[in-house]
Amino acid sequence: MRILLAQSLIKSVAILVSALAGVPRVHAATQNLTDAQIAIVVQRLAEGATHSWELGTREQALTELNTPAFSVLNGSNVPPPTSAPASLAPVFDIVAAVIANRTHIAGLSAGTPQPLVAGDGSAADPASNGVAALLANWTGQNNASVNFGQAAVDQMNYLWADVPRTTDGALSHRVAEVQLWSDFVYMVPPFLAYYGATTANQSMLAAAYTQVKLYRGYLRDSGAGGLWKHVVLGSDFQDPGHWSTGNGWAAAGMLRVLGTLAGSQYANAMKSERKDLAKWVGEIHDAMYAHVRSDGLFNNYADNASSFADASSTALLAATVYRTALLTQTYKHLPAAEAARAALWAPSAGVGAAFANASSLAAMTHFSANGWLAPVVNPNAFGSQGSESPEAQAFVLLMYAAWRDWAAAGAPGANAARGKAGGGPPSAWMLVALAMLVGAAAGAPL
Ligand SMILES: *[C@@H]1O[C@H](CO)[C@@H](O)[C@H](O)[C@H]1NC(C)=O
Ligand SMILES: *[C@@H]1O[C@H](CO)[C@@H](O)[C@H](O)[C@H]1NC(C)=O
Ligand SMILES: *[C@@H]1O[C@H](CO)[C@@H](O)[C@H](O)[C@H]1NC(C)=O
Ligand SMILES: *[C@@H]1O[C@H](CO)[C@@H](O)[C@H](O)[C@H]1NC(C)=O
Ligand SMILES: *[C@@H]1O[C@H](CO)[C@@H](O)[C@H](O)[C@H]1NC(C)=O
Ligand SMILES: *[C@@H]1O[C@H](CO)[C@@H](O)[C@H](O)[C@H]1NC(C)=O
Ligand SMILES: *[C@@H]1O[C@H](CO)[C@@H](O)[C@H](O)[C@H]1NC(C)=O
Ligand SMILES: *[C@@H]1O[C@H](CO)[C@@H](O)[C@H](O)[C@H]1NC(C)=O
Repeated sequence: MRILLAQSLIKSVAILVSALAGVPRVHAATQNLTDAQIAIVVQRLAEGATHSWELGTREQALTELNTPAFSVLNGSNVPPPTSAPASLAPVFDIVAAVIANRTHIAGLSAGTPQPLVAGDGSAADPASNGVAALLANWTGQNNASVNFGQAAVDQMNYLWADVPRTTDGALSHRVAEVQLWSDFVYMVPPFLAYYGATTANQSMLAAAYTQVKLYRGYLRDSGAGGLWKHVVLGSDFQDPGHWSTGNGWAAAGMLRVLGTLAGSQYANAMKSERKDLAKWVGEIHDAMYAHVRSDGLFNNYADNASSFADASSTALLAATVYRTALLTQTYKHLPAAEAARAALWAPSAGVGAAFANASSLAAMTHFSANGWLAPVVNPNAFGSQGSESPEAQAFVLLMYAAWRDWAAAGAPGANAARGKAGGGPPSAWMLVALAMLVGAAAGAPL
């Protein structure tokens, strides 16, 4: 009883302190984007996405946005029904164009081990298109010009036959040498896992888990609270820093593997793997949110306050927090995700309501006049600030879809979120409650 009292006293003081510190007030119910605003984000993404990973991330974002039941993050149905709703057509069109280009550029015929995107310096990024290829194959989309299933087989064979590896078996992120990037976790393991699910091959799901585990072993920096380094080994690129987007790629990739395992026929057989993945996502969340800025955003390198503020990684990490709440019933970082979402969707100073113009993003602090998220890291130069980032547009959609699905599920954990995120001046009830607790504590020997 006394311990409980002491704990609630500590908690009240913590709430009061965070209120006084001006943690942004969250209006979860009112902060939203209209369909017209989402359509603008979708359109900018369509115009901007050209690189292998941008196309793969776009496929995933459009799937989560428009056809959530066919995403592995839905929590069941992996693989999904074999008949595809019309809402998946744009996803199939993107991956069909990717596969057609492959033959066009490399001149290799189907049946030869080769990546889904020819001529890429990354050994991993092309595979980000693999889940969409498998989904197209699974739902019978093959036609005279594209064999999606064969393209997925070719990509899989390429990974194991041609991509260099560490001595303990981690596949390289680069073609030319062994080099490991945190980005890999979003590009390859979700493909391995989904391939295992569509071909009923548990060892392929196990391979997805093992790649994640190996990457964590190389990149997790226990000297930095568990933040992941961006790049290790090799000499192609150098970036030992704790790149925020990289931590987001890793957490989001692990959640897709977790969702695939959890929704598949191997969910029970792979219980300990699921437990590890959930724990590893939590490690990244704990490490990242320890560095979140007072405005709700991350710096481009989470633990470097001199690096610029980055809305891109902020959106991706927030998406993973909502997905974590749904997939693992872990609610710890919901207040931070709600604060991030409120910040990213806030109206510009001087604009009275968020939806002064419901058909535009122009009057919002973190979007440009025509709807690009800002400020963002340059997706082609991870140390520099950029503008018009396609992946950032995709992350806005991932955050929106994750939040929407979380809200539709009854916003589990929202009370914890409200309790901790409520900011602004301390309300009267807080002061009364605090006074009562202090009184009670003074009267009782703790
Ligand atoms: C957000 O806005 C959309 C479009 O107006 C609406 O359909 C949806 O219900 C809203 N979502 C939430 C969670 O309030
Ligand atoms: C799963 O998909 C259904 C159907 O589209 C959707 O209504 C629901 O919100 C999704 N749930 C989750 C947890 O993603
Ligand atoms: C094959 O399917 C893809 C994806 O649905 C589509 O984009 C393409 O136009 C189709 N090609 C033919 C020849 O039907
Ligand atoms: C196809 O290849 C061309 C030429 O390399 C490139 O400009 C285009 O963006 C590629 N399209 C897709 C969908 O990969
Ligand atoms: C492609 O789909 C067929 C079922 O239509 C399935 O038997 C096959 O395993 C799939 N291939 C892959 C690589 O998932
Ligand atoms: C299952 O996956 C493993 C790789 O993990 C592969 O070696 C094996 O050939 C696959 N089995 C079948 C039947 O495709
Ligand atoms: C932190 O970021 C600043 C600005 O980009 C950079 O000059 C500095 O080297 C970084 N510090 C570390 C320790 O990486
Ligand atoms: C709202 O935005 C749309 C699209 O940018 C624009 O056409 C319209 O004029 C704007 N309305 C107002 C009242 O600013």
